[in-house]
Amino acid sequence: MARISYDEQTAAAFKAVREVPRDGLSEWREAVRRHLRPARGMTLVDIGAGTGAFAAAFSDWFDLSVLAVEPSAAMRDQIPRTPAVQVLAGTAGALPLPDASADAAWLSLVIHHIPDLGVAAREIRRVLRPGAPVLIRQGFPGRLDRVELVRWFPETARAVGTYPSVNDTCTAFAAAGFHQDALEQVRETYPTSLADFLGQADTFRHADTTMRQLTEDEFLRGKERLRRAVRHAEDTANPEPRSNWLDLLVLR
Ligand SMILES: C[S@@+](CC[C@H](N)C(=O)[O-])C[C@H]1O[C@@H](n2cnc3c(N)ncnc32)[C@H](O)[C@@H]1O
Repeated sequence: MARISYDEQTAAAFKAVREVPRDGLSEWREAVRRHLRPARGMTLVDIGAGTGAFAAAFSDWFDLSVLAVEPSAAMRDQIPRTPAVQVLAGTAGALPLPDASADAAWLSLVIHHIPDLGVAAREIRRVLRPGAPVLIRQGFPGRLDRVELVRWFPETARAVGTYPSVNDTCTAFAAAGFHQDALEQVRETYPTSLADFLGQADTFRHADTTMRQLTEDEFLRGKERLRRAVRHAEDTANPEPRSNWLDLLVLR
């Protein structure tokens, strides 16, 4: 069971406010390129693909075949259908793929939803070819200093504290034969302003697992912090673009 239900309302909210616009992903594009070393004709499995933003980006950027595996029908419905992206029902623990059929796995903001990481790691080992990388995009506990949401809503770190750590993840994957290849922080940027973000806060709260766990008081205090920052930004000639840093953990 995922930590929240990805029903139709959540899927629509996720699509509306949680996808990082493509222009803000250039540093992810380069980081993934370095570790994936993409070649035409490769197959990447996007596990917990959600609304398909990364599946679409990978096929456009690198000319890959992408298998977008996603358990929620409502999230799958939001994935843009193209010849290069095949959409499949499934979970990390039961992937609808033959043995040794994929050249890479991508898991973005998914590992905290997986009920048994050890089972998932073995399943990922089964479907990947030898030496293929597992690329994990995640805000790991204790590594949230530059996570935008935590800046405005610091109590969101409480939920993240219950998620698998880097060490938990590496240990689960080591038991399936993977080792840690790299760990770095990657920046993404947003073209929208802080005022836009404030305007989306209620929708965001619905679409984000860590925001759902805030109390009403914590949520209102965060909005007030944002409101003050919006006023300050209005007095500044060129406010910094909004940015967020997440971990990229690579296992092979
Ligand atoms: C926060 S969303 C991330 C979506 C997408 N990867 C992205 O970064 O935009 C988490 C996704 O994981 C999916 N999920 C939940 N449990 C899962 C599991 N056991 N295996 C694979 N995916 C799962 C959810 O349905 C949801 O679409």
